[in-house]
Amino acid sequence: METKRFDMTDTLGPQKELEDKIEAAADILRSGGLLAIPTETVYGLGANGLDAKAVGRIFEAKGRPQDNPLILHVPGPQWLARYCTDVPPLAYVLAKRFWPGPLTMILKRKSVVPDVTTAGLDTVGVRCPDHQVTLAIIRAAGVPVAAPSANTSGRPSCTCAADVLEDMDGKIEGVVDGGPCSVGVESTILDLTCNPPRLLRPGGLPLEELESVVGAIAVDKAVVSLLSEGEKPRAPGMKYRHYAPKAPVTVVTGRPDRSAREIVHRMGPDAGVICFDEFADLFAGHTVRKLGSWKDKATQAQRVFDALRAFDGTSVTEIYAQCPDSRGLGLAIGNRLKKAAGFHVIDADQEQIVIGFTGGSGAGKTCALRVLEQLGGKVLDCDAVYYEMLQKDEGLRRAIRDVFGEVFALDGTLDRQKLGKLVFGNEHKLDQLNQIIFHYVPQELQRRMAAEPAPLYGLDAINLIEGGLGRLCDRTVAVTTPQELRVRRIMERDGISEEYARLRIGAQKPDGFYRDNCDCVLENTASTAQEFEMEARTFLERLIEDIKEEKQDVGRK
Ligand code: TXA
Ligand code: MG
Repeated sequence: METKRFDMTDTLGPQKELEDKIEAAADILRSGGLLAIPTETVYGLGANGLDAKAVGRIFEAKGRPQDNPLILHVPGPQWLARYCTDVPPLAYVLAKRFWPGPLTMILKRKSVVPDVTTAGLDTVGVRCPDHQVTLAIIRAAGVPVAAPSANTSGRPSCTCAADVLEDMDGKIEGVVDGGPCSVGVESTILDLTCNPPRLLRPGGLPLEELESVVGAIAVDKAVVSLLSEGEKPRAPGMKYRHYAPKAPVTVVTGRPDRSAREIVHRMGPDAGVICFDEFADLFAGHTVRKLGSWKDKATQAQRVFDALRAFDGTSVTEIYAQCPDSRGLGLAIGNRLKKAAGFHVIDADQEQIVIGFTGGSGAGKTCALRVLEQLGGKVLDCDAVYYEMLQKDEGLRRAIRDVFGEVFALDGTLDRQKLGKLVFGNEHKLDQLNQIIFHYVPQELQRRMAAEPAPLYGLDAINLIEGGLGRLCDRTVAVTTPQELRVRRIMERDGISEEYARLRIGAQKPDGFYRDNCDCVLENTASTAQEFEMEARTFLERLIEDIKEEKQDVGRK
């Protein structure tokens, strides 16, 4: 199908021409076609909301799950009573104050609205968009326009006609180009069928403005966190991992200088960054999208979807995003970023200290980590996390399968022999396996540290350096021991011969490797474990002090 493009960016030109275009666009809607329309928030993919067949085509074109209802777009409050029943006076108060504008109200529906439009719910979302061209088209069509955002399901919403064409060209009858969207994030959704009214989605109209009229408003859990399996959000669309670019996203909240520093600290060589203008210089050499000044949330809202879209088609393998605080439009911007990240969020204000420990066996790593625990720290055993992920993490398992074929047994466990045979002696294959592991494991470690925030974390990893885990750490510590001591210790600890102990040590990286690549060295020459524990304690206490001081310095700057 050829998608017709109506350029209506110039509303001051010849009026007859404009009227003809409006008429032609309205005709598409009247005759059951699909028409992408500009609004002040994002572009919508519209159809006659009373025509079940036309509405069905919206779901097809977007690949949208059938259980996700659509919003009806109307030219003003006078249409409310046509499609809604039991409309409370508050709805008219809000419409008078905020329409046309980025507010969607959920109200009881009348039966003229077909089931497909509301996904079978007994309520319907209604809004009056603030866009002259679209309002004129709706009036000319004489029907309410059901319109979700015009993106393919799961992709970031479209904020200009070119984005719409990227997703919908050839699938719909027409696109109305009304210029870039002035707000940039979708409408705020308020459920008026419950008491107190409930915010189902933060959007272009700040919560504070609504509260100033409504009073108390409940905030749905889906707005601020990832729902657990089986939990249902009241706006069905909020359960989907929306707005997602192809590379995984990590959102960093907190004071802008701190979040910027946190990103510098964590990012790998192929990281892309979404940041406030003031901090862009810190990320030179990376693919960067600027959101606008950290003080200018209106600009950030306009740019957030564009920023999320921009990384697809680049070689970026992970994305970090600075996040505004949640006041005003910040709640909606942060919600879109966090949804793109699957709510993978790190708070830079929270002064979490992460220390990575590495070193060969018998050097004293376990002992040092025990001391860290005594100092109140939590320890993550990176090997153990990796083996758990092999069992459960679908992303990692899929990535391994894609390269190595079916190496998982019927009961889901990894067939180590099979995989071992494939990588053993094949440097390229081993490299491929490592790349997969080094991509997935750090993400999972970050997720765990964010999910269970503690002031002090220790990462226990023999391949801390090779695995790129150093970027998660404030400091990396090499625990080393002179070779002769190590030989004796392993012999005693594991009850093995001297020859075998030497063989094992010989198979590991030499101490020099850890020494050269870590931030600091904890040398274990003590004659007893107790003695080493005391030395390790002094060492770690001092190290933690240093890190704290450094963090405060950054805070002051
Ligand atoms: O700004 C906007 O609202 C844009 C423009 C095009 O108007 N539209 C938009 O539509 O964002 P969409 O379909 O992408 O998001 C609509 C959201 C979904 O999360 C959906 O589940 C929710 O509104 N929704 C629609 N009807 C609902 C209802 N009756 N009850 C609860 N949630 C509803
Ligand atoms: Mg949408």
